[in-house]
Parts: sequence; C-alpha cells; structure tokens
Amino acid sequence: MEKRQELYAGKAKSVFATDDPDHLILTFRDDTSAFDGERMESLARKGMVNNRFNAFIMEQLAAAGIPTHFTQRLSDTESVVKKLDMIPVECVVRNIAAGGLVKRLGVEEGKELNPPTFELFLKNDALHDPMINESLAETFGWATPEQLAEMKALTFRVNDVLKRLFADGGLLLVDYKLEFGLFKGEIVLGDEFSPDGCRLWDAETREKLDKDRFRQGLGGVIEAYEEVGRRIGVGFD
Ligand code: ADP
Ligand code: CDP
Repeated sequence: MEKRQELYAGKAKSVFATDDPDHLILTFRDDTSAFDGERMESLARKGMVNNRFNAFIMEQLAAAGIPTHFTQRLSDTESVVKKLDMIPVECVVRNIAAGGLVKRLGVEEGKELNPPTFELFLKNDALHDPMINESLAETFGWATPEQLAEMKALTFRVNDVLKRLFADGGLLLVDYKLEFGLFKGEIVLGDEFSPDGCRLWDAETREKLDKDRFRQGLGGVIEAYEEVGRRIGVGFD
C-alpha cells in the first residue's frame, strides 16, 4: 500500500490518503495535548506506544465481534484503517466517577457508577467539546437516532470486553471515549483506544496510569502507558 498526501493533522495523529480509496494510514505522533489543545508537549515514544496499544485493543475488540476500522499495523507509528465518514459525536462510558463528571455534578471521585453512565459530546475543540444529547444530534444532523442507538450499544459492548481485559491486568477501566464513523453505510469504531482517551487506575492502589498523569503534571506518563500495556499483553519489543 502506498502512502500518499496528508489529509489532516490532528492534535495527536495525522491522516494520510493511500492508493486505495477505501483505506487511510494513521500516524501516531509523540504530540500530547490537554484541555482541547491549550497545552501541547512532545513525549518521547508516545506515538509508538499508542500505535501498538491501539492495534492490540482493536484486535481484541474485533475478535469479540465489534466492527472496527483497524486493518493492520504498518510500522512502529503507522496503522492502516478503513476510511470512515466520521460522526462528530464522542461517546463516553463511565464505570467510576472522575474528570468532567466530578466537576460538573460535584460527585465524589472514585464513586462506583452502577449502572455505568453514557454521555455524548460534540467533537468541536473551539467549543470545548460541549455535552449534547440524542435530540440535538438528530436536529442538527450529526447522527440519526438509529446510528446513535447503534453507537450506544457498541460502546457498552466495548465496556464488557475491555473491563474484563483490564481487570485481568489488575486495572480499573474508569471511563473512556469512543468515536465512530460510517463505512459503506455501516457504523464502525474509528479513531483510537489508548491511555490518551481513557482512564485506568491500578485496582489496588488506585494510582492513575493514563493521560491524567499529563493533565495533572504527575510525570511518568509514557512509563505508565507502557506499564498498562505490559499488564494486558501489548508487545512493545
Ligand atoms: P483530533 O482531530 O481530535 O485532534 P487526532 O489527532 O487523533 O484527533 O486526529 C485524528 C483524526 O482522524 C480525528 O479527527 C479522527 O476523528 C479522525 N479519524 C480517526 N479514524 C478515522 C478513520 N478511520 N477515517 C477517517 N478519519 C478518522
Ligand atoms: O477528562 P475531561 O474532564 O476532559 O473529560 P471527561 O468527560 O471526564 O472524559 C471522559 C473520558 O473520555 C476520559 O477518559 C477522557 O480521557 C476521554 N476523552 C477524550 O479522550 N477526548 C475528549 N475530547 C474528551 C474525553
């Protein structure tokens, strides 16, 4: 497969066209952002770690029957994916209260959420990814009710698979964000699953092992991502 022109450079990944109109190459860069891109830093090895982490997770999800865009890992920092028409809606599931939920509702960080919650956010950095709902998504044409129902069902299926996977590594999957898109009319999981887009705590000590280490200036960010990867069986060579 031939890598062609860069189509888009996001905050952490770049998207390239290929000689196949149905496929793209995603490159995972070392760039790390927080607070909707207000804080940017380069963290050595992050691109490689997240590319390998994401490939491993996407393979686990595909094995569990979840449709994903992931096709194959090409190199340390590149993967081939199906070209999706992205739906500009972020799906967030929370198993434990943290982050935005704690700030917004004043609940205690660490409270177990039973049943887990499901939230929708509009993917728009300039507006700081505002929270939306099904009605707004339908009215403004971001997604149809049928697409939203499918995205919600898939996001909870991902929870079943990944809660167990991380639990086996002594980790709590606190919350995570997924993005979906359309491939030939079907809803498919896109973007990435890595410690950049979820919260993972050590099950015993509740130590944070995800991007909150960067957001909160705790240090050891990539070391934590690698530790999580090792515990669930991601190979970093
Ligand atoms: P952001 O756009 O939030 O800064 P990234 O730096 O991760 O995020 O950029 C990757 C971009 O590629 C995102 O906008 C994401 O929605 C988009 N994307 C992810 N997977 C696919 C795909 N399979 N097809 C098309 N676009 C994708
Ligand atoms: O962390 P923050 O307060 O920005 O938002 P949140 O609503 O608490 O985020 C819930 C989960 O989604 C966390 O795991 C975030 O890392 C993830 N997320 C993301 O990856 N990208 C966003 N734009 C928003 C949230």
